[in-house]
Amino acid sequence: MKKLNLIPDIDHLWKTLGYHFENLSQVIHEFVDNAISDFIRNKIKNGEIIITFKKMSKNKVEVIIEDHGKGIIDIENALTLGGMKFFESLFNEHGSGSNNGLSFVDPFNLSWIIMTRTIKDALQGQYKVVRAPYSFKGMNVEIHKGNCLTGSETGTIIKFTCSYDIFKTIRIPFGSQTSQFKDLVDLLYEDLGVHYSYIIKQENIKITIKAFDDDKEYNSIADVKPIFPVVEKCKMNKSQMVDLGNGVVKIDLKHIIMSKNTLTKKYYLKNMRSSGVEIRFNGRLLEFLGFEEIWGIKSHPFYNGNLIVVNLISDKRGRLPNTRTTKTGLNRSDSKTAFLFHWIADQISLLYDEKEMNQNIKMKFIDQVVNLTFVDKENIIYDAIKTKKFICNCQVCTHEGYDLYFECIKTKVNDLYFFEKLWDEQLLLNKPIGRIILIADEHPEPVRERVRLINKKNIEGKNYNIVLIKK
Ligand SMILES: Nc1ncnc2c1ncn2[C@@H]1O[C@H](COP(=O)(O)OP(=O)(O)OP(=O)(O)O)[C@@H](O)[C@H]1O
Ligand SMILES: [Mg+2]
Repeated sequence: MKKLNLIPDIDHLWKTLGYHFENLSQVIHEFVDNAISDFIRNKIKNGEIIITFKKMSKNKVEVIIEDHGKGIIDIENALTLGGMKFFESLFNEHGSGSNNGLSFVDPFNLSWIIMTRTIKDALQGQYKVVRAPYSFKGMNVEIHKGNCLTGSETGTIIKFTCSYDIFKTIRIPFGSQTSQFKDLVDLLYEDLGVHYSYIIKQENIKITIKAFDDDKEYNSIADVKPIFPVVEKCKMNKSQMVDLGNGVVKIDLKHIIMSKNTLTKKYYLKNMRSSGVEIRFNGRLLEFLGFEEIWGIKSHPFYNGNLIVVNLISDKRGRLPNTRTTKTGLNRSDSKTAFLFHWIADQISLLYDEKEMNQNIKMKFIDQVVNLTFVDKENIIYDAIKTKKFICNCQVCTHEGYDLYFECIKTKVNDLYFFEKLWDEQLLLNKPIGRIILIADEHPEPVRERVRLINKKNIEGKNYNIVLIKK
């Protein structure tokens, strides 16, 4: 009989461990989670985490995540895939977050270093170091004299160098195109401020970000501020003990209507993208989902501003739904997840009559047009022009002819061809348009630039006149 030898191919395995991650922020979360878990286990008040980004050459960024916890007690267990000897807290769930994260940022297994100092090390005036490459056997634990930490006797440092392309992945969840070091760091402040808002506030944890770009003489040091939605109206705020299938957990449930009044770039904006359901485990944001999966309703501008915050609280392993290995969401195959979604749907009714919703939206839009034009509602013609692509929300007569108003969530460059065509057609029909006004949540820069160009063109002695207005 043949005996199989199934030692994994480390080079290939290492590269693929990180494939589940989509951006650097998710990797930073893994290390922040580990630090928080250590604070919880050791009952550390005012725990400190310092994240440093140093732009090195054009194509590299050095990242250091330092926490002032009690250090890694068992490095062997920490680096073993699935090593779960100590059940510190539910912030440690799968036993592989560090390895997965390091693989994402360092796919060639070259640059990462873990330095750690426990109380025992501190008493001996030393710290321990383990460095790349990862291997299943024979990795060295180096002992160095002194203290690797800044301002603490015990704690852990994770250090790696990643390519600028990987650093830029911070922008992915924001749908941003920026490549600027400073802008990317700013996005991370928002990301961490939202993900750890409850924990920063309730546990008094301090996360500091230090960022240096010597080329641009840029350096900044600031603490991450917890970010919460600005509440316009609170429709529900309650706590309940619920058994999702494996023993009770506490669920804090909030249904709020957000106010527009916020400085954030992605979260809590009162638009379609930031309205939905926030699922948190012990305060840490795990997943943001739309209304469809829970209530079976399609996204609709009528629901804009509705935010449901579901914070599941438990320190008992197995009671909360299983999460994805990247901690970016709940595992849909776990019956506890299905139970939770049904429970939320039972608690909060979100269904409205679609006709009523559309009427309501139309009237809101007309109010906005009235505010802009000082024209009475009676003098506004609804749904003046209908095409396959767009409904012109309304037409307003002016002394120069008439203006057409369109509403959408985000304007697109391709849509502008349609408006040029419409302009030309109406001219041919001897019904020249005065202005086309596009009202949207967002007019991206390429759209604004194209509109500037279009408005410079003239046809039969008259310039196109497209106006962009933000909602
Ligand atoms: N900053 C830290 N301070 C103290 N111990 C740590 C730290 N980081 C990691 N550890 C130890 O190493 C173990 C492995 O961490 P790792 O992130 O790989 O997996 P995990 O946190 O157990 O599970 P998950 O896959 O859910 O992240 C942790 O369980 C913890 O015991
Ligand atoms: Mg972890």
